[in-house]
Amino acid sequence: MAEKKYVVHTVVISGFFLGVALFAYLLVSHHMSMSNQVMHSRDSLLSNGLSVLDRIKPVGKLAMELPTEVAVINASISTGTLTRDGAQVFDQSCAACHASGIAGAPKLGDQVQWKTRFAKGTKVLYVNALNGISSSTGVMPAKGGNASLSDAEVKAAVDYIVAKTKTN
Ligand code: HEC
Repeated sequence: MAEKKYVVHTVVISGFFLGVALFAYLLVSHHMSMSNQVMHSRDSLLSNGLSVLDRIKPVGKLAMELPTEVAVINASISTGTLTRDGAQVFDQSCAACHASGIAGAPKLGDQVQWKTRFAKGTKVLYVNALNGISSSTGVMPAKGGNASLSDAEVKAAVDYIVAKTKTN
C-alpha cells in the first residue's frame, strides 16, 4: 500500500515538473521568436512599399540661399562710387564721434567697446552704419549724418574701423 502511494507521488511530482519544464520551454521559445515576429509585422505595417531610406528621409529641405531682396541689398552695398578711401571718409564723417568716442559712440581702436559689435558680423555693421542705429548708449545717424556719402564709402569707413581696431 505504502509502495503504491510512493509510486503515485513520484508520478504526480515528476509529472508536475515535466509540466513546468514544458511550460518554461514554450514560454522561452515563444519569446525568442517574438522579436522577429514584431519586426516582421512592423515592417509590413509601416512600409507600404517604401524602403527604410524613403521612410526616414527629411520631410522638408532648408534653403540656405539669401532671399533676393537681401542679395540685392548686398550687391548695392558692394557697388557705388568710391571717391574717398575708408580713412578719408572716417576722418571727414565719422571721426567727430568715433575718434574720441563721444555720445556713446564706440571709439576707434578700442577693442573692448567694439568686441560685441564685431561679433554681429561685418555685414550687420555695414547695414547699421548705412541706415543708422540707436540704443541706450547713443544715436548713430544714417551714414554718420553725411548723406552725400555713397554706400561704398560708408562700407569702406566701416572696414577702416574694423581693420584699425583689430590691429590696435
Ligand atoms: C553723431 C555721432 C556719430 C557719427 C558722426 C558716426 N557715428 Fe557711428 N555710432 C555712433 C553711436 C552713438 C554708435 C552706437 C550706437 C548704438 O550702439 O546704438 C555708433 C555705432 C556705429 C557702428 C556700430 C554699429 C553696430 O551695429 O553696433 C558702426 C559700424 C559705426 N557707428 C560706423 C560709423 C561710420 C562708418 C561713420 C561715418 C560714416 C559713423 N559711424 C559716424 C555715433 C556716430
